[in-house]
Amino acid sequence: MTSIIKLGGSAISDKGVPFSFNEENVKELGRALAETGEQAFLIHGGGAWGHPVAAQYGLNAFSYSKNVIGASRTRRAMLMLSVKVQKALLDVGIGTFYMSPQHIVDGARVAGDLFSMGIYPLTYGDVIFEPGKGMRVIGGDEIALKLSGLIKAERAIFIINTEGIIGEDGETIRRISISGANGFSVKEIPIFVGGRTVKFGEVLQAIEKSSSDATGGIAYKLMVASKLASEGIVAYFVPPRSQEIAKAIKGEDIKGSVVIG
Ligand SMILES: Nc1ncnc2c1ncn2[C@@H]1O[C@H](COP(=O)(O)OP(=O)(O)O)[C@@H](O)[C@H]1O
Ligand SMILES: [Mg+2]
Repeated sequence: MTSIIKLGGSAISDKGVPFSFNEENVKELGRALAETGEQAFLIHGGGAWGHPVAAQYGLNAFSYSKNVIGASRTRRAMLMLSVKVQKALLDVGIGTFYMSPQHIVDGARVAGDLFSMGIYPLTYGDVIFEPGKGMRVIGGDEIALKLSGLIKAERAIFIINTEGIIGEDGETIRRISISGANGFSVKEIPIFVGGRTVKFGEVLQAIEKSSSDATGGIAYKLMVASKLASEGIVAYFVPPRSQEIAKAIKGEDIKGSVVIG
């Protein structure tokens, strides 16, 4: 079985503390990979590294920028974060092969060969250049969606800093469904943003306005999960604990949330 695993920036850093890094949470993923031995394409987010620098220069995923220095600084911050992520994974015996999202189409082409060698391809949210358009941020969640069209994966696992998707009552919503027929309707999920609560269904048309971060936050992640689920790829939202991640990799019941078609 192959998983696309997005290690959330919220899980590997404290977004409230610029350039903070949570090495242990990265190792939790590494241990889950080592334990299960399943194939996975890894993506990590920007957390306290990419987001603050991107914001400082007005860069985001929803508009193109000509800010050369801002783009260069954001890319440098992401490189530095990725070095730490790759080191933490190596420390628990996980070898990665990193590739820029700029070249993800080429990268995806060799993913199968890398898998067969026991290597985990790894990419991360970054600034990309689109010919004829310009530079913009591409978030790790968007990369997960793009990758789903490039490699054959059965599951997408989003590791975040909460116990999955949280409902109005503060409890984890265990089973989410696009139609609402066989689980909690995705449209009704509360998005908690800056002391307000809005329903996912209401922000769907303007996701970028529902979050203060450069890539659309949890609403964008839910949108990606819904698209994946509609394509038959089960999406999991799990906290950064190796047991829960390992269960998601194996397709078992998790304490977090699962999004189904
Ligand atoms: N209903 C919800 N369930 C879980 N998290 C939510 C919810 N509404 C808002 N959030 C916020 O979304 C954050 C996760 O999204 P995001 O910061 O984009 O994560 P990542 O850094 O992994 O991409 C959580 O830390 C939480 O603050
Ligand atoms: Mg995010």
